[in-house]
Amino acid sequence: MSDIRACFPDRPQFLGFMKPCRVEGDVCQLEVYGEIPKEIDGVFYRVMPDPQLPPFVENDPWFNGDGNVAAFRIQDGRASFRQRYVRTEKFVREREAQRALLGKYRNKFTDAVEFKVRSTANTNVVFFNGQLLALKEDSPPYAMDPVTLETKWLYDFEGQLPSLTFTAHPKFDPVTGEMVCFGYEARGDGTPDVCYYCVSPTGQFTEVVWLVAPVVAMIHDFAVTDNWVIFPIIPQVCDIERMKQGGEHWQWSPGTPLYLGVMPRRGAKAEDVKWFQYKNSFPGHTANAYEDEKGHLVIDLGLSEKNVFFWWPDAEGSAPEPSSILSQLVRFTLDPQTEDLALPEPKVLQQGNSEFYRIDDRFATHPYRHCYFDLMDPQLGTDFERIGPKLGGGFPLYNSLAHFDNATGQTEVYFPGTTHLVQEPVFIPRKDSTTEGDGYVLALVNNYETMASELHLLDTRDFTRAQAKILLPIRLRQGLHGSWVDGRDVRPQTE
Ligand SMILES: [Fe+2]
Repeated sequence: MSDIRACFPDRPQFLGFMKPCRVEGDVCQLEVYGEIPKEIDGVFYRVMPDPQLPPFVENDPWFNGDGNVAAFRIQDGRASFRQRYVRTEKFVREREAQRALLGKYRNKFTDAVEFKVRSTANTNVVFFNGQLLALKEDSPPYAMDPVTLETKWLYDFEGQLPSLTFTAHPKFDPVTGEMVCFGYEARGDGTPDVCYYCVSPTGQFTEVVWLVAPVVAMIHDFAVTDNWVIFPIIPQVCDIERMKQGGEHWQWSPGTPLYLGVMPRRGAKAEDVKWFQYKNSFPGHTANAYEDEKGHLVIDLGLSEKNVFFWWPDAEGSAPEPSSILSQLVRFTLDPQTEDLALPEPKVLQQGNSEFYRIDDRFATHPYRHCYFDLMDPQLGTDFERIGPKLGGGFPLYNSLAHFDNATGQTEVYFPGTTHLVQEPVFIPRKDSTTEGDGYVLALVNNYETMASELHLLDTRDFTRAQAKILLPIRLRQGLHGSWVDGRDVRPQTE
């Protein structure tokens, strides 16, 4: 059959550093340059889309690869690495068939076989109630063993999950221990239904509210405060008829505003949601949200005037040139009681081109000061001439890690080197310190000189230089999200 390929397509998303990694295994005692403080004890989990097999869709986007989950165990000043693919239905059946069976990104009408669940489990890994959950927003989670990374099962919370879908960005209330979640296209592809739900620390569903969105469009991330939830809708719209004809799930819609759906977090009814509107623009990841002293909602997130997902153009086929896309950390402030649903201009908190915002998670849903993220600063001296041929493509480029201080408005920057790019950071609290932002920032770094991956560890008291560089013997292509989990929460790793 002509659609079975033995090699990956000659496209940027499969070349250079983006060539699929496809490795499962363990590496004990990773090389450490510098020093990992002995007090750091935990696991950094991250996931990357990493196609097991060449797709039969020639221009398959990076987002469609199989979820390959890595666990970096850090303890006693040492680090070890383990990586396993999530055994999704797609992964297992494709391995058996020895060929790709899943078609276009989130378009079941293009598949070679009928799947019950199309999850690639490739977007985020979070730890909740003793399980590691590998997430893709079109499906329920897959549960994995946090130590062995064995896939346990498709997880519907013992039958409680009301929605066909589960966000890749659940929020964790650091005070109540609840996991606050939602699913969109919650009754299936092309449905405007959104299902909001909240899970107690022991796994009981406590809130379930079904809403109808004003447009069938992507709701990738969201925001939660003590008393409210906020759903930003990305103007990438879905049309089931286009999908049936073999088209893309998503199409950029220049005529659609950015909606922020605002609803009480507890005891809400469907009619309580208010859809605030802002001009057509692309809401990126959320940093944090909270209520100010007036009871107004403060929502910090990335915002771009252009279509960040340039590989899904508008109906005319137009998409911005990737290097022209600017995403900035901005702040929307709104009164949830008002009937005026036009959002005022947001305040730009940080001027740089940034994404992948992370905070000290102990301050999630509350007023906070410190934000850490990936930054692209062309002035820093990245040697694109040298690394260009090795970059691959299909993902945004960030060359530094930034710390933004909301109290002072100042930004500190860590630049890993002229032949390096960075991936999403995580924050690790310093042992026995309750001060916000006192601890470490850890991020995976792509080294285009060695064509291998590294973890760079920064002490937030001395942010601009690496405390330790932990070297991997392999290359991990661009991933999406991950989590830091304290060692006390996972069983000791048996080697
Ligand atoms: Fe995300």
